[in-house]
Amino acid sequence: MLAFAFRAQCADDYKSVLIFTNGDSIRVRLPLTDVTGKVRVKEISPDGFGIPVAPSKVSLGTNDYIEWQIGYDIPNTNSPSIVPQLKFQRNGETKYGHELSKIIFESVRLGILSTNDLIGEIQKLEKIPTNEFEESRPVQIETLTNAANGFQSAVERLPQFTKVTSHGSVQIQLKQKQRAVGYQAMVYVCLPMNQVLDANGNSRKSAPAKSKETVFYDFSRENADLILNIVDAFGIASQQHNEDIQHILQKILEMARP
Ligand code: ADE
Repeated sequence: MLAFAFRAQCADDYKSVLIFTNGDSIRVRLPLTDVTGKVRVKEISPDGFGIPVAPSKVSLGTNDYIEWQIGYDIPNTNSPSIVPQLKFQRNGETKYGHELSKIIFESVRLGILSTNDLIGEIQKLEKIPTNEFEESRPVQIETLTNAANGFQSAVERLPQFTKVTSHGSVQIQLKQKQRAVGYQAMVYVCLPMNQVLDANGNSRKSAPAKSKETVFYDFSRENADLILNIVDAFGIASQQHNEDIQHILQKILEMARP
């Protein structure tokens, strides 16, 4: 049974987002063909929402990007992308720093981000007024009844916020909560397909995704602003995210300066 569980986990391993250091940079490994998971390939669309593509059916190139629903904590140690030392309590639950937390933790260790950057972010996040979180923005519904046939049309306007940089962008989208009433702010990191690397560390050539193909994206001093933009996005997304991220930054600061 255990052996089976282990094999099942290994079989799915290409779907895990891996984060590891590579010299002076932090390398992120992302799956290309996990279309129902947290990493999806989309084609750029004028409205900015992107159109999901079947990654193995079309050539992935300059018109495409990877949309990554990045996380920052996890309630267990089952992922290779956690920071085991970054363990804390949140609403009575034990949590470990995950993904974004690991990127920030390693960035401070490698000097991609300074402790002053973290202090600056905490100060910025503290100052955001409670009524300015994107999650509390009203979602507008316009209704109109067609006098001729009596059918009522309803149009829902869902806001989206995007910060664009030359290395990729960060988006906040309001989505209907899956198991509750209301909306939640989702944060996505969007990485242009022409900026990802293949398994040899070379720029990935335009081509359809191979079965279980993974690609790589490097964070370094050159694109450290993208990391801070992800932090900003969580900071303005909702009160919960804002408080969680402040707490994580504080913990990383304490570990950097014991
Ligand atoms: N909670 C953890 N990661 C999240 C994300 N990317 N968007 C919204 N909520 C989250």
